[in-house]
Amino acid sequence: MGCLFATILHSSSFFFSILILSNAMTDTITANQTIGVTDTIVSSQKNFELGFFTSGNSNNFYLAIWYKKISTRTIVWVANRARPLTDSLGVLKITNPGILVLLNSTGNVSWSSNSSTTVQNPVTQLFDNGNLVVRDGDQPQNILWQSFDYPTATFLPGMKFGKNLVSGLDRYLTSWRSSDNPSLGNFTYRLDPSGSPQLIVRSGTTVKFRSGPWNGLRFSGFPMLSPNPVYTYGFFSNKEEMYYQFNLVNSLVFTRLVLSPTGLVQRFTWAERTNEWVLYSSAQTDNCDSYGLCGAYGNCIINRSPPCWCLDGFEPRFLRDWEGADWSGGCHRAVQLDCWSDGFVKYSGVKLPDTRESWFNESMSLVECRTLCLMNCSCMGYTSSDIRGEGSGCLVWFGDLIDLREFNENGQIIYIRMAASEIEENQKEEFELPLFELATISNATKNFSQDNKIGEGGFGPVYKGILMEGQEIAVKRLSENSRQGSDEFKNEVIYIAKLQHRNLVKLLGCCIEVEEKLLIYEYMSNKSLDYFIFDQKRSMLLDWPKRFNIIVGIARGLLYLHQDSRLRIIHRDLKVDNILLDNEMNPKISDFGIARSFGGNETEAKTNKVVGTHGYISPEYAVHGIYSVKSDVFSFGVLVLEILSGKRNREFHHPDHHLNLLGHAWKLYIEGRPLELVDSLVRGSWCECEVLRSIHVGLLCVQQYRENRPSMSAVTMMLGGEGAMPQPKQPAFFGEESPQGVDSSSESKNIMCSANELEAPPPPPLNSEQDNDSMFPSTVEWIVICMGYVSGIVVGMVIGHSITTRGYCETVEERQLLCMLEFHGLGAVISFLIVSRL
Ligand SMILES: *[C@@H]1O[C@H](CO)[C@@H](O)[C@H](O)[C@H]1NC(C)=O
Ligand SMILES: *[C@@H]1O[C@H](CO)[C@@H](O)[C@H](O)[C@H]1NC(C)=O
Ligand SMILES: *[C@@H]1O[C@H](CO)[C@@H](O)[C@H](O)[C@H]1NC(C)=O
Ligand SMILES: *[C@@H]1O[C@H](CO)[C@@H](O)[C@H](O)[C@H]1NC(C)=O
Ligand SMILES: *[C@@H]1O[C@H](CO)[C@@H](O)[C@H](O)[C@H]1NC(C)=O
Ligand SMILES: *[C@@H]1O[C@H](CO)[C@@H](O)[C@H](O)[C@H]1NC(C)=O
Ligand SMILES: *[C@@H]1O[C@H](CO)[C@@H](O)[C@H](O)[C@H]1NC(C)=O
Ligand SMILES: *[C@@H]1O[C@H](CO)[C@@H](O)[C@H](O)[C@H]1NC(C)=O
Ligand SMILES: *[C@@H]1O[C@H](CO)[C@@H](O)[C@H](O)[C@H]1NC(C)=O
Ligand SMILES: *[C@@H]1O[C@H](CO)[C@@H](O)[C@H](O)[C@H]1NC(C)=O
Ligand SMILES: *[C@@H]1O[C@H](CO)[C@@H](O)[C@H](O)[C@H]1NC(C)=O
Ligand SMILES: *[C@@H]1O[C@H](CO)[C@@H](O)[C@H](O)[C@H]1NC(C)=O
Repeated sequence: MGCLFATILHSSSFFFSILILSNAMTDTITANQTIGVTDTIVSSQKNFELGFFTSGNSNNFYLAIWYKKISTRTIVWVANRARPLTDSLGVLKITNPGILVLLNSTGNVSWSSNSSTTVQNPVTQLFDNGNLVVRDGDQPQNILWQSFDYPTATFLPGMKFGKNLVSGLDRYLTSWRSSDNPSLGNFTYRLDPSGSPQLIVRSGTTVKFRSGPWNGLRFSGFPMLSPNPVYTYGFFSNKEEMYYQFNLVNSLVFTRLVLSPTGLVQRFTWAERTNEWVLYSSAQTDNCDSYGLCGAYGNCIINRSPPCWCLDGFEPRFLRDWEGADWSGGCHRAVQLDCWSDGFVKYSGVKLPDTRESWFNESMSLVECRTLCLMNCSCMGYTSSDIRGEGSGCLVWFGDLIDLREFNENGQIIYIRMAASEIEENQKEEFELPLFELATISNATKNFSQDNKIGEGGFGPVYKGILMEGQEIAVKRLSENSRQGSDEFKNEVIYIAKLQHRNLVKLLGCCIEVEEKLLIYEYMSNKSLDYFIFDQKRSMLLDWPKRFNIIVGIARGLLYLHQDSRLRIIHRDLKVDNILLDNEMNPKISDFGIARSFGGNETEAKTNKVVGTHGYISPEYAVHGIYSVKSDVFSFGVLVLEILSGKRNREFHHPDHHLNLLGHAWKLYIEGRPLELVDSLVRGSWCECEVLRSIHVGLLCVQQYRENRPSMSAVTMMLGGEGAMPQPKQPAFFGEESPQGVDSSSESKNIMCSANELEAPPPPPLNSEQDNDSMFPSTVEWIVICMGYVSGIVVGMVIGHSITTRGYCETVEERQLLCMLEFHGLGAVISFLIVSRL
């Protein structure tokens, strides 16, 4: 017993004596202690050691930290990279306020730590994770400085790689100059916080490699990064800081990430058995990881030769260079974007392009994301910001897409903006009308509050709303149980969703839930034309250049409808109330509730249901139910004369005669004093020839016989001062208060009148109308319209909550396919709209 005690005593005093004799076994430096070039301190579990080393053939001494347990000296941190000691007489000590200083033999500071706070009793301690810390000896939690905040070329477990957004501290790696020279090298590896953050390797200021943005699982450019037995990892971001970090699963394993002197980001692990560092992974795997190798809109595909390809619909910008293997000039579009009619093409399996010019929001859905991108002409692509699960969040790119490549696995999806004509048939399902959730719209309109109501549209109230992203919208809400409204809703969805023109109001999406049917449009801050033109004060804001711009804009919008759009549409309800004004007072035609489309060589149609607005309806339509592009031209003519005069045709009175506005304009014209028609308010600002041209065009458009009226293309040319202008003939209805057959007593803006005397019902352009639903079995509750471009319009059925396909049934022209589809489960239904209850 006694003997055993003696042994213990002996060994413990032996241990104690070593501790005293050499500094090497302590892990702290206290005030007034100095560490010379031959001294070291060691962390408590002997993982790391702090001391001096010389490298290469130089006589330079560097203060550094290395692995204690690893035989190959592996430096993980260097203090005085910029100023090595040139002899072995320097010392490291901690000064009283808490600053660690390295002095050279002449007492000059070679390196020092810094901190903004000071303490009475500072100590320096080397921790077992390799972190050298200056802290308060009395309050160990109070850390003044730590080497982990100033990494050199090695990223260790537990370090934060990234930025503190409050203090501005930026923790990044700077390579060694060469493998035996720790002075500052050419390369940095740093978290770039612009757009969606990425880790970027630069040589000087030139980007060499980027990790791509974090996607919830990994950085987009690190397809190999996946859960593993060695370390865990994550990217963390909040208001105060954003950083990447990894931590050891097993603390006995050594792993480190290094920025090599040649700019490679490499992870090594220590192989105990063979006593060497093994390359575990490398961020740069092949040539396609060289930043921008293929230039803007180039796609790098490593197992092809050459690796660079232009994305579909793009061509090499500098063909000769491209063919000479210099791809850096990239590619440009074969067909320019026009902003309004663009769509997206989906690419899968890629590394997302450079996100320095991007924007993201983690709470938006992909549908909202698409809408946001579509609405901003400089948005070139979008995707989910987080790919976990079904995907969530929104990431959008502004400016050219650069540094995109393909991966064999773990690549991502991106939707790239393309001109409509560049989107191939099989990609067109990407074109669908976005569906909004009712909760989103309800929230945006303050639960459809009265305060948010901005008007009454063709089939229900219109509300102003603000989406969470701040986007202003106008929401049309279909009045409940209105069959008429239901048709108009369907019409709007069918037509306007496919129409994209700067003078047509833009439909952003729709919402169909339970009893609600909503259409969501871009918000027009300056209401509609009638708000200005017929108001004495507000009409003063519309000087001649503005009015002319409005006339020309409407003409262009109408020309697009009649001729340039694929659908060839007749609006049928053109009037000042349906001309909305954006914040620059540009006109946008709205309300397609009763519009009709013409296919093939059809030019006119007949209806027994004349729908339109009193004062704007052409005689042949009012009396015989015949409508054609020329009935729109007539309405346009009325509009022009109203804009010029500031008077409503419908309410026009003149003390000297009983003519309506058209008759009045005609009278002045034939009496040779046409300018007297014009609102006196614009006199100061007008350009007489433009005014005369507009009056002339207005009168040509309202002529009695439709064959005399010009087409909209002739109108736009005449307004632009081109082409001959025939003499107008007498306008229709010029002496009458209202056209025959139209119920003039109606106070409502929209009038409907039956022309039952017509012998045969005319062929409506949409078959779904005339078929009067009889083709659907009685169990069917809903008609479903799908806006897929492939199939045009698709009609299916919803019975209860399950949707049943009935296959295709009919093709209406080549662009519209009327059909019934069978679906199982609502997952597939995202692009389908329930438009009409039977
Ligand atoms: C350090 O030295 C200064 C004077 O040289 C002395 O006042 C101070 O008490 C010393 N501190 C410690 C912790 O020994
Ligand atoms: C100590 O540092 C100063 C300033 O950097 C330098 O001028 C001087 O030559 C150095 N002395 C030695 C012996 O390296
Ligand atoms: C180096 O230290 C000496 C003495 O401490 C001082 O006179 C000299 O100015 C210092 N030189 C530099 C470059 O700091
Ligand atoms: C510490 O030094 C670094 C660079 O030497 C500087 O950027 C930083 O602002 C300093 N911090 C404090 C608290 O002085
Ligand atoms: C570092 O940059 C210098 C000057 O720009 C250059 O001479 C040297 O070759 C570069 N080193 C490496 C490893 O790229
Ligand atoms: C489009 O996005 C860019 C970049 O965020 C922004 O500067 C611009 O104002 C946006 N344009 C529109 C019309 O919202
Ligand atoms: C409605 O808006 C508020 C803030 O305006 C937000 O907190 C809430 O999550 C939103 N609800 C929905 C369903 O969007
Ligand atoms: C929104 O309106 C509906 C009916 O108009 C009502 O039932 C609901 O409680 C309202 N919700 C809120 C949050 O006001
Ligand atoms: C992101 O979107 C959410 C919901 O759409 C919104 O609440 C939030 O304000 C948005 N954040 C930014 C920075 O726009
Ligand atoms: C049109 O709207 C913009 C933005 O809301 C506003 O600044 C401008 O004054 C409006 N113009 C008129 C004529 O009201
Ligand atoms: C044009 O219409 C006529 C009959 O009205 C028809 O016979 C002809 O095939 C049509 N042409 C085209 C190209 O659709
Ligand atoms: C519409 O359906 C009814 C029966 O539901 C039928 O009598 C009628 O002929 C159908 N067609 C038209 C064009 O009304």
